[in-house]
Amino acid sequence: MECIAVINQKGGVGKTSTAVNLGVALGQRGLRALLIDLDPQGHLTTHLGMDAKARGAGIYEVLTANLPIESAIHDYSESVSIIPAQIDLAAAEMELVSVVGRESILRDTLLAAQQPYDVAIIDCPPSLGVLTLNALSAATRVLIPLQAHFLALQGVGKLLETVMLVSRRINPGLRVLGMVISMYETGTRLAGEVIDDLSGFLDAARHTAVPWSDARIMNARIRRNVKLAESPSYGQSIFEYAPKSNGAQDYLALADELLGLLYPPAAPAAQTTPATEPARAPVTERSAAEKAAHARLASPGPSSAAADEPLVAASAPAR
Ligand SMILES: Nc1ncnc2c1ncn2[C@@H]1O[C@H](COP(=O)(O)OP(=O)(O)O)[C@@H](O)[C@H]1O
Ligand SMILES: [Mg+2]
Repeated sequence: MECIAVINQKGGVGKTSTAVNLGVALGQRGLRALLIDLDPQGHLTTHLGMDAKARGAGIYEVLTANLPIESAIHDYSESVSIIPAQIDLAAAEMELVSVVGRESILRDTLLAAQQPYDVAIIDCPPSLGVLTLNALSAATRVLIPLQAHFLALQGVGKLLETVMLVSRRINPGLRVLGMVISMYETGTRLAGEVIDDLSGFLDAARHTAVPWSDARIMNARIRRNVKLAESPSYGQSIFEYAPKSNGAQDYLALADELLGLLYPPAAPAAQTTPATEPARAPVTERSAAEKAAHARLASPGPSSAAADEPLVAASAPAR
């Protein structure tokens, strides 16, 4: 099962909208999708009108009380199921502080799950604490929604550093799929500049050992669309609320692009394989590209070597 963590430690960048609408779009394309709400604000849960059902078990019980994941799964439609979150999830961060292996609880329960899903999508909270670490440990891919404005890249360095730490210590298979531009204002110069900057950053990491070395800016961009902003208050995804809107079209395009990446058509026979491997930059522990990227993208402040940082950067202090 592919497991996509939708992450950005900034709030209001389109994480929840993306998790919801991408999940439902993938459902429309014939996949069975499991949406996991890992944000104590429970926006994914309310977005899909699951508040009432969420009074039953949710992700909090899975993480803190060893509840089998099946008992926390609620059906939204034939192809989409949800593990909801309630506000008590905020307490999980504290409760898990002294639990050994606290970063891997979600991964372990998902692995033990009997339910057949093709894809799980995790909506992450706007922080890099233990909940997000659980998402990164369980995930196969990371998708980063970004708004193309001038502060968009602030914090992306820190986010990628966290992804790298998790990939080194817990989840070696973790890959950054890419960034998706949300609330895109077509044709603005600023959006173009931000996207150029981001492409340059991603290109600098090609052929290095970082988990984002083949990440991309998704071709499908999510245009600013008022229907997307309205749909949560009706407890519906964009596909029920306004199936003909730009928002629905954009998320369907994103789903199709993603499917092409997750399940690429079988490579044609030997003919097209180059005789020799293309020249690669030497793969070092921490490449020059990576360092440059961090210098450029990390928000101002004291920089620290990734390997020296505690894994749980933002968790509550143990007392
Ligand atoms: N493409 C879009 N166009 C217009 N409004 C959007 C779009 N995407 C998201 N929104 C709205 O912007 C707000 C923040 O989006 P949300 O997905 O909740 O971000 P996050 O989960 O990162 O905090 C929400 O009110 C949402 O409905
Ligand atoms: Mg959200």
